[in-house]
Amino acid sequence: MFLQPPRWGEGWGEGAIGRIQKMTEQIQETKNIGLRGVKVADTRISDVDGERGNLIYRGLNICDLVVRSTFEEVSYLLLHDHLPTAEELKKFQGALVLEREIPEVVYRFMKMMPVASHPMDIMQAAVPILASHDPQLHDETREANFKKAIRLIAKLPTVVAAWDRIRKGKIAVSPNPELSHAGNFLYMLSGSPPGAGTAKDFDTCLILHAEHSFNASTFAGREVASTHAQLYASIAAALGALSGELHGGANSEVMKMLLEIGEVDRVKPWVTGKLQKGGKVMGMGHAVYHTEDPRATILRGICSRLADRLRDRKWFELTNAIEATTKEEFRKLKGRDIYPNVDFYSASVYFMMGIPTDLFTPVFAISRVSGWTAHIIEEKFAEAQPKPELYRPDADYVGTYCGPQACPYVPIEERSK
Ligand SMILES: CC(C)(COP(=O)(O)OP(=O)(O)OC[C@H]1O[C@@H](n2cnc3c(N)ncnc32)[C@H](O)[C@@H]1OP(=O)(O)O)[C@@H](O)C(=O)NCCC(=O)NCCS
Repeated sequence: MFLQPPRWGEGWGEGAIGRIQKMTEQIQETKNIGLRGVKVADTRISDVDGERGNLIYRGLNICDLVVRSTFEEVSYLLLHDHLPTAEELKKFQGALVLEREIPEVVYRFMKMMPVASHPMDIMQAAVPILASHDPQLHDETREANFKKAIRLIAKLPTVVAAWDRIRKGKIAVSPNPELSHAGNFLYMLSGSPPGAGTAKDFDTCLILHAEHSFNASTFAGREVASTHAQLYASIAAALGALSGELHGGANSEVMKMLLEIGEVDRVKPWVTGKLQKGGKVMGMGHAVYHTEDPRATILRGICSRLADRLRDRKWFELTNAIEATTKEEFRKLKGRDIYPNVDFYSASVYFMMGIPTDLFTPVFAISRVSGWTAHIIEEKFAEAQPKPELYRPDADYVGTYCGPQACPYVPIEERSK
């Protein structure tokens, strides 16, 4: 029988420590599978049901949240484990609006950076600067961590929009307190407030990207938090993990693919060629969902609606054709199904909203920061289940071996190639 860790509220008494020691003696081989299917902790924040294609934030289905809530409300939900009352929401929104401005030094830093710098790198580099201006940086109470979370959720959109304008030689646009979180970001990017439909659709995109359990970036953030590092350091780690093309970087790669293919009649040879060479069609496939990602279903609808609003269905039709062809060819080649993930339709959605391609991943980040901060607080305060604080996995050494006493050291003058 596998031993149970202490239950919530039981604490880490001597009995529990003894039990964890016995558990580590029973460690099962989980190496070289990229942690697929390995449960490393409990969480109260979200549940990804990869078989049924459901995504639940704090007990609520994202399909209900996108219809009935705003990003601000969802951020509150993720951080506090319950939907806010009208009064709580007003206070939370007010706090976010008050924290949107970024310190002058962040603008100065951006003005000094090469214009070709990737927005994800700028965003990640801005985080420790924001940290050093946070008056509560080293206050590790729960209350202070919530305040730091609010500051990061509020300020990161300002950083991203300002960088886009600065690199283009334009003047950064100050946040507009009259606009929602979603509307204000689009405003700071373009300099004019978005239409109500676009602001609502973008708000939905932010809700859909806000949280996804123990994905690579969230785990990176929690892992750093488990060392007792401060919240900003954990967020910088999460941003680094998100930047890769197998994670948050996939949406920009999808757009590059759409631009490269260009026309529906070029889809079939492109996709077939890609799959036959063992290449990947970005935005397709998922490590957890074995059916359609529910976020892709909602984004497909937004993509089609946006195309109608713009009276140009090109990007929707092209994305749709790539999805159909990839499904068909993947089945022929591998004998199983593949489905679009969250990044597949978000690419053409963001493109049609006028967001530059290399900002797609930063846009993912300005949403996911609400999930990351919720997870980091959960990790810091062991809110789901007590556990040893530090994550410390192990590995089998398979390198050079000369016996238990190690290899003889060769002085530099005696070394040859
Ligand atoms: C997300 C992803 C890493 C999930 O990986 P996974 O479920 O662990 O699956 P694997 O990478 O182990 O792939 C399983 C098989 O499906 C294939 N496959 C997975 N995604 C594929 C894709 N997008 N295009 C083509 N083939 C794909 C793999 O080549 C592999 O084939 P094999 O069994 O013949 O070697 C993977 O689907 C992927 O790289 N997708 C493209 C990048 C992307 O969109 N990322 C965003 C994720 S939200």
